[in-house]
Amino acid sequence: MNQKPLLVTAALPYANGPIHLGHLVEYTQADIFTRFQKMRGREAYYFCADDTHGAPIMIRAKNEGVAPEAVIARYHQEHQRDFNDFNIAFDHYYSTNSPENRALAEEIYGKLKTGGHIHRRPVEQAYCEHDRMFLPDRFVRGVCPRCGADDQYGDVCESCGAHYSPTELKNPRCSLCGAPPARKSSEHLFFRVADYLDTLKTFMDGPALQPEVKNFLATWLKEGLRDWDISRDGPYFGFSIPGEQDKYFYVWLDAPVGYLATMLNKFGAERFDALLRRGEGVLRHFIGKDIVYFHTLFWIPMLAGAGFTLPSTIQVHGFLTVNGEKMSKSKGTFINARTYLNHLGPEYLRYYYASKLKSGVDDLDLNFQDFVFRVNAELVNKVANLGSRTIGMLNKIPALANTLSASHILSEGREEAGLLTKVMAEAESIAADYDNLDFALALQKIMRLADLANEYIDSAKPWACKEDTERQRDILTAGINAFMLIAKYLKPVVPAFAEKVERILKIAPLKWDSYKDDILCNHTIGQFERLADRIDIALTEKIVEETQKAAEAAKKPETPAAPGAPLIEYDDFAKLDLRTAKVTAAERLPKADKLLKLTIDVGGETRTLVAGIAKHYTAEEMVGKTIIIVANLKPRALMGVTSQGMALAVNDGGTLVLLAPEKEMLSGLKVS
Ligand code: 2FM
Ligand code: ZN
Repeated sequence: MNQKPLLVTAALPYANGPIHLGHLVEYTQADIFTRFQKMRGREAYYFCADDTHGAPIMIRAKNEGVAPEAVIARYHQEHQRDFNDFNIAFDHYYSTNSPENRALAEEIYGKLKTGGHIHRRPVEQAYCEHDRMFLPDRFVRGVCPRCGADDQYGDVCESCGAHYSPTELKNPRCSLCGAPPARKSSEHLFFRVADYLDTLKTFMDGPALQPEVKNFLATWLKEGLRDWDISRDGPYFGFSIPGEQDKYFYVWLDAPVGYLATMLNKFGAERFDALLRRGEGVLRHFIGKDIVYFHTLFWIPMLAGAGFTLPSTIQVHGFLTVNGEKMSKSKGTFINARTYLNHLGPEYLRYYYASKLKSGVDDLDLNFQDFVFRVNAELVNKVANLGSRTIGMLNKIPALANTLSASHILSEGREEAGLLTKVMAEAESIAADYDNLDFALALQKIMRLADLANEYIDSAKPWACKEDTERQRDILTAGINAFMLIAKYLKPVVPAFAEKVERILKIAPLKWDSYKDDILCNHTIGQFERLADRIDIALTEKIVEETQKAAEAAKKPETPAAPGAPLIEYDDFAKLDLRTAKVTAAERLPKADKLLKLTIDVGGETRTLVAGIAKHYTAEEMVGKTIIIVANLKPRALMGVTSQGMALAVNDGGTLVLLAPEKEMLSGLKVS
């Protein structure tokens, strides 16, 4: 079969937070799918990248007092480590903050603009005078205009699900400083998506979407397509829009372009063009149901408008619930990938997710009791146990010398052949389930085969025919081969488990392209190693506890700092040389009604200091005061006078009150 190369993507995680178990549903689903395709011999690639732009990352960086690039770099490392430890095997993991992404975003925008699909018009937006920025939707909070729920985001109400714009919120507040935002107008660029109505209709009617998703899209199309605002005013962390002043692409414009950028970076321009511009590749996106809007209404027109291959499928999954409820930080169920890994192996979760994943958009529940029960009953008791009892026994009987029977066990009519034929016969049907993304069904079938093999061993009783070692060898050979096939069928789900089996059996990596030829005869295997231990429910409790503790610790400490003021390291504080200083003379500066020129004594050294306190203190009353200054501030010229330091004062509602030691003391003493 000569199939086109398969290009699989999973949604790009934001570069300002850790990977959690909710994310992992999708990364696992797409990973299993791609691994399966590769085992089938198909040329397939799995791509992902960090989604790095936008206001939240910019604000996060500002609060931490670092550049956004530093935040991105940290999460780039952390995300990749988490994915790697969950055996999520991306062929390339890249970043939307990359030259390829800039070039592709500019190209797509340029083509849409040339085609007459970009329009400009003024937009009135929430603007925080205090933070001096337009507030993105998520940074305005207030009362939902539809249902009246308080403390809702500026774009969507978590209580009633209404979508609106931040200016429609009642009693809006800046979420950074709490001040009511002003309204300010600026010109924005809009993509007229309605120009692509026909493209969207054709896409919707094709095979790319699940029935439920088609319904979403049909409803949106019926409601009418609004122009999409693709620009944001500075300050904004993103790509500046060519030909515009201080305007940036909205993060959701360049985020999906990141799929393409990652492929371009992997393949180089020539192969990229063939695969993605000339239709030689098959593009399959995996996303969650919350971002269908962006991936259909906007992304399809963007791709179509710029002449790229449209996705063959957009596979949408539901949300993760934990113990039947929405993930919650306070309940300890908003679990980070790393927290889980601190207590349990990745393949238990992969197995459990797979056992519940079907091709629909239903939510998936991680119920801890069910998780423990299922993994123990199936992966451990059925599968690992089959390997342990058969391989372990072959290892233990010296006369068998770890060697499997010859191919006579495969002759017609033999019970060993009967078992193996049944196990092999399911291969194509299980493959179809993987291909159709019905992993739950695939695992059900595989578990039935494990039952069958265990029942065979139970009834053949190799332990009961000690005097006939060749009979023992035949039974164990059948059992071990059944186990090998089962490990093969499970390999997309639990790759590390299957690799261990390959090592124990001393075989080449298991593939899905042949069955009968794989049966091991006359083959010497290695020593058994433990494959999977039973899970103790207490471990899941520990995970929840650790999550809860982390949530507690992350609650903002009560600091006197203004909201949004960045925390500093002790070392930063230690750089300040604060000292007592005595004012020996003072005068007003001409033409500067706010400034006083002070002559100060700092431990015997005379300095000049210009302070903006003239509205609060007269020159006369300053003389003789002991104040506190920053003594190691770089000298600065103010109104022609060089100021050698800065006086500290408290701003009490606009009135400045100088800081002074609580007792009369010498000048030049260090404040610590
Ligand atoms: O919703 C999210 O987490 C986004 N970062 C997903 C982006 S997917 C793609 F468009 F980049
Ligand atoms: Zn503000």
